[in-house]
Amino acid sequence: MCGIVGYAGTAAGPQAQDVVLEGLRRLEYRGYDSAGVALQTDGRLVTAKKAGKLARLVEFLDEDPLPPSVTGIGHTRWATHGAPTDANAHPHLGGDGTVAVIHNGIIENFASLKAGLLTDGVGFASQTDTEVAAHLLAKAYAETGDLPAAMCAVARSLEGAFTLLAVHADVPGTVVAARRNSPLVVGLGDGANYLGSDVAAFIGHTREAIEMGQDQVVTITASSVSITDFDGVPADGVHFHVDWDAAAAEKGGFPSFMAKEINEQPQAVADTLRGRVDPSGRLVLDELHIDETVLRSIDKIVIIACGTASYAGQVARYAIEHWCRIPCEVELAHEFRYRDPVVNEKTLVVAVSQSGETMDTIMAVRHAREQGARVVAVCNTYGSTIPRESDAALYTHAGPEIAVASTKAFLAQITACYLLGLYLAQLRGNKFADEISEIMGQLQAMPEKIQKVLDGIGQVRAMARWMADTRSVLFLGRHVGYPVAMEGALKLKEIAYIHAEGFAAGELKHGPIALIEPGQPVFVIVPSPRNRDVLHSKVVSNIQEINARGARTIVIAEEGDEDVVPYADDVIWIPPTPTLLAPLVTVVPLQVFACELATAKGLDVDQPRNLAKSVTVE
Ligand code: AGP
Repeated sequence: MCGIVGYAGTAAGPQAQDVVLEGLRRLEYRGYDSAGVALQTDGRLVTAKKAGKLARLVEFLDEDPLPPSVTGIGHTRWATHGAPTDANAHPHLGGDGTVAVIHNGIIENFASLKAGLLTDGVGFASQTDTEVAAHLLAKAYAETGDLPAAMCAVARSLEGAFTLLAVHADVPGTVVAARRNSPLVVGLGDGANYLGSDVAAFIGHTREAIEMGQDQVVTITASSVSITDFDGVPADGVHFHVDWDAAAAEKGGFPSFMAKEINEQPQAVADTLRGRVDPSGRLVLDELHIDETVLRSIDKIVIIACGTASYAGQVARYAIEHWCRIPCEVELAHEFRYRDPVVNEKTLVVAVSQSGETMDTIMAVRHAREQGARVVAVCNTYGSTIPRESDAALYTHAGPEIAVASTKAFLAQITACYLLGLYLAQLRGNKFADEISEIMGQLQAMPEKIQKVLDGIGQVRAMARWMADTRSVLFLGRHVGYPVAMEGALKLKEIAYIHAEGFAAGELKHGPIALIEPGQPVFVIVPSPRNRDVLHSKVVSNIQEINARGARTIVIAEEGDEDVVPYADDVIWIPPTPTLLAPLVTVVPLQVFACELATAKGLDVDQPRNLAKSVTVE
């Protein structure tokens, strides 16, 4: 997710460059890889943009300041398409430099729109989807002479997720913006107005804000704010007063980045799915540059990763084997590298990593490639080492993950690995088009299910608070619930510093049941009862066994699953979900439990002791 700032002021106020750069500084926490500004002054636009950190742009502007202006936009980019370079940094220009546009999101139909512009003879300076919007806006303004109407016309033609901000050389003192499936807030100032991807962009100037609604266009000047729908019909946003301080504003009002990122999971899954299906319904993974004949010849898949990323791989393994009928192993990267694995040109290695800089995984990738394997990186950080050293990359679009404890990246990694599995099944003919579109439909319904779990999470938060002095917690699951149990244990270990163990429920009688004492908290992830298969009844038996020995059983089960009620001290209900996709919802209560318990203990949830966000040493 990118950082966005817009400003429309007067000569009596501060310079636009200063206001925009200050807003970008407050948005730096979001993580980014390039930054840029565009100002409107004296009938022209002036811009500056640089790859790298904001300091590099500021240094450039200190040496070569832009002319005075009271209207401008600014952007910090988190690359999703196109490497983090000066050329790909925002803003992007259209209409021979008369229009500047900045953008957060993914325009799914940009390729077809770009083809039309190329046919019209439009030249492009970058690989980005944003530049397409800039040229479309210039064309629409040339036809209408009305910037808000032109933005409406462009917004109606776009598919996907976007927050677009634009200034025009011929329209002084005005910033126009449009949003769909991506956040945009308006700051109401005194003699000035502001736009931002979140309130942190302008909290230094005003606490009166408007949250824009879906499919809306807003036009701001120093003295006016006008909102319409995409057809130009007047509309309203939601007014609110920002009562957070600047630090809290960076966390979107949440107490920690981890809490914020847990709540961003519906968007992370939706954005990772976005743009992966062509108009005919076929899966298109445009970053997967491995020859189709090679992918058809693969006879083994090995997923390598560390920590949470490895549990994402373990979840995905069940789906990949089920859909592709190819053996799929999951190996900790630091173990894979040293065990002399059987890997050759018929092996597809999938390296899963949020940061793309985990040294254990980098070294395992190098080893796999030395053995002749093809490597696909599933990564959240564009252009990082692991995708650079792989044959291909499938990027998750979770946006920057600031908290050390990985949450939204975990769900996005599972989602991306599902897409990879479906793509291979489609390519190898294991799945018919209608089967794939059915599963894609189930996946696209997941963000709403995740949101439903988040909306009802108060029970878990309360439970975490009164369990704050717990000294050990067990987590049990079967099938895809098993890696979820291990992830739930890892969360508790790494941020609440509580001993926790996740294990396969079937292992209970092979030893761990000896750990059960009266009051021992045990989380159990229960498979869907709808299949009424043996899996569900086995897990219910496990709950019965530990409940009979006095454990405190906290059960995560599907709404309506009455079988668990007699043996559960607490039940956390989740919406009905296909078995293979259930981890996308069953893990959420475990993430929240760990986050809330650590908070109740007064611990630093975002920066836990002894841990780094990316382990860049072996
Ligand atoms: C997850 O909460 C941990 N911070 C850690 O296990 C992490 O998942 C692991 O170090 C892998 O990091 P990566 O995804 O950046 O490669």
